[in-house]
Amino acid sequence: MTTTGNAVLDAIRSRRVVRAMTDEPVPRADIETVLDAARWAPTAGNRHLQRYVATDDPTTLHLLRMTAPGMVQRPTAAITICTDRALAADFGFPPDSAGLHVDVGTAAATLLLAAHAIGLGAGPVTSFSRAAAAVVLRLPDGWRPELIVCLGYPAPRPPAPMRGRARLTWRDLTVWVP
Ligand SMILES: Cc1cc2nc3c(=O)[nH]c(=O)nc-3n(C[C@H](O)[C@H](O)[C@H](O)COP(=O)(O)O)c2cc1C
Repeated sequence: MTTTGNAVLDAIRSRRVVRAMTDEPVPRADIETVLDAARWAPTAGNRHLQRYVATDDPTTLHLLRMTAPGMVQRPTAAITICTDRALAADFGFPPDSAGLHVDVGTAAATLLLAAHAIGLGAGPVTSFSRAAAAVVLRLPDGWRPELIVCLGYPAPRPPAPMRGRARLTWRDLTVWVP
């Protein structure tokens, strides 16, 4: 089966974390398109225990950035994925349940791909103070901020990507059994 020209696979392959963004605001309708994609992400037990806190307010974004050493970019919008831990407890999830963490990952991947699919740049941030972000975002009790997805338009001449390993092939990452 040929995999070139497949829209989903092409989007997965071409998405990159964007850490340099212009100051052009992202239209609300586009943020809503990205948010709407998130509800299609798979969740443990189909419980949908993640909540999304969206902002395009410059002051809130500035304050949020101050809580986040890992936020290299200056986004014009951000979506913070939170886990509603009170609701999770009601459904019997222990606080350290793997499913709750995995749900954040599936949500983040879906948000990043959705943003990319409509021409937005996006970057995940986990290096931030949960306590400070909760205050800035006025989170209700029991909502834990897990991951911030920065949104904006990619800058025309981005800096070199973060240094890391050369792109791995699927063979590098896979073992077959038996
Ligand atoms: C769980 C997780 C946390 C991350 N946290 C940050 C972060 O705090 N700041 C950042 O700039 N990038 C962060 N990233 C992005 C990775 O550094 C990025 O995915 C990696 O460098 C590969 O880049 P690519 O996705 O463009 O291929 C995070 C990614 C994941 C999956």
